[in-house]
Amino acid sequence: MAVTAPRHFLQFRDFSRDEFEHLFERTRWIKDRFKRYELYQPLRDRTLAMVFEKASTRTRVSFEAGMNQLGGIAINLTRSDTQLARGEPIEDVARVVSRMVDVVMIRTFGQSLIERFADHSRVPVINGLTNEYHPCQILADIYTWIEHRGSIQGRTVAWIGDANNVCYTWLQAAQIFGFHVNVSTPPGYGMDPAIAGASGAAHYSCHDDPRAACRGADLVTTDVWTSMGYEAENDARLRAFAPWQVDGAMMREAAPDALFMHCLPAHRGEEVAAEVIDGPQSVVWDEAENRLHAQKALLEYLVCGRVDG
Ligand code: CP
Ligand code: NVA
Repeated sequence: MAVTAPRHFLQFRDFSRDEFEHLFERTRWIKDRFKRYELYQPLRDRTLAMVFEKASTRTRVSFEAGMNQLGGIAINLTRSDTQLARGEPIEDVARVVSRMVDVVMIRTFGQSLIERFADHSRVPVINGLTNEYHPCQILADIYTWIEHRGSIQGRTVAWIGDANNVCYTWLQAAQIFGFHVNVSTPPGYGMDPAIAGASGAAHYSCHDDPRAACRGADLVTTDVWTSMGYEAENDARLRAFAPWQVDGAMMREAAPDALFMHCLPAHRGEEVAAEVIDGPQSVVWDEAENRLHAQKALLEYLVCGRVDG
C-alpha cells in the first residue's frame, strides 16, 4: 500500500501525453486478453473503494466489474450509507479509508471536494465525475477515437450543447494531444474560462451557430442539457438548448466520415436525434464499453506502476 505522494487522476491534465500513450497501449492489451477470455489478475488482494454522491450506471459497473476482473474487489459507498451523511469531514474519511484500501474512485459535486480527499489520502484517487471534469470518460473516448481512426492529433472535435464537465475535459485533452475543439453553447450557457484553463485557449474556439461549429469536424459530440446537480434549471434549459440538438442536418455539416460520440445517458429528441445516436456514424456503444478497458489500464497503472505486457 502506498504511503507517500500517491499519483491521482483528478483531472485530465494530471497525466502527461507519454502516460496516456502508455495507458492506451495497456488498454489495447487488456481488452484483447479480455476478449479471449484470458485471466489477467495483477490486482489480486487489492481493494477499490468507490464513493458515489451522484447516480451512475457506466462508472459504477465498469469500475466494479473491472476491479473484479483484475482479481481485486470493489466496495461501493454512497453518501447516505456512510458517516459523510452525518457530517464526518471528508479529510477524516480520506485518512481512514485510504489506510484500508489500495485505490479510491469518487463521484461528487465540486472539484474542491475530491481535491480535499486526495490531499489527505495515502492511496491514488480517481475522479469518477465532478461538476467540473470527467477524466475517465475522455480517457475512454480518445481510446475509442484511436480504435476507429488512429491519432487524434490535428483533428477537429465539435462540442455542441452545454459547457459542462465532459466539455471541459475535452478542452484539457485537446491541449495534451494537439487537436482543436469547436464549442457551441446557447447564449447564457457559455464556458467558464477559469475551468477551461487559459493555457488551452489556442485549442478551442467558440461558435454562436452550432452548424458552423460542426462544419468540417472529424468528431461531433454532445451530452445532456441538464447535468446532475442542475435539475432545478431543467425547464429553462430545455427551452434554451432546443436549437442545439445534434440532428442529421448538423452531422451533414461535418466531414463525411465524422464520428458521433455521447458519454451517455442520452435523451433522444433533446440533445441528440435518434437518427444520429442510432445511426451509422455513432460509436457510443464502443465508447461505453471502453470505459471498462481503459479504467482497468488506469487501475493497473495507479496501483502497480508501469507494466509492460
Ligand atoms: N458516462 C457516464 O459516466 O455514465 P454514468 O453516469 O452512468 O456513470
Ligand atoms: N454531464 C453529465 C455527465 C453524466 C455522465 C452529468 O454531469 O450529469
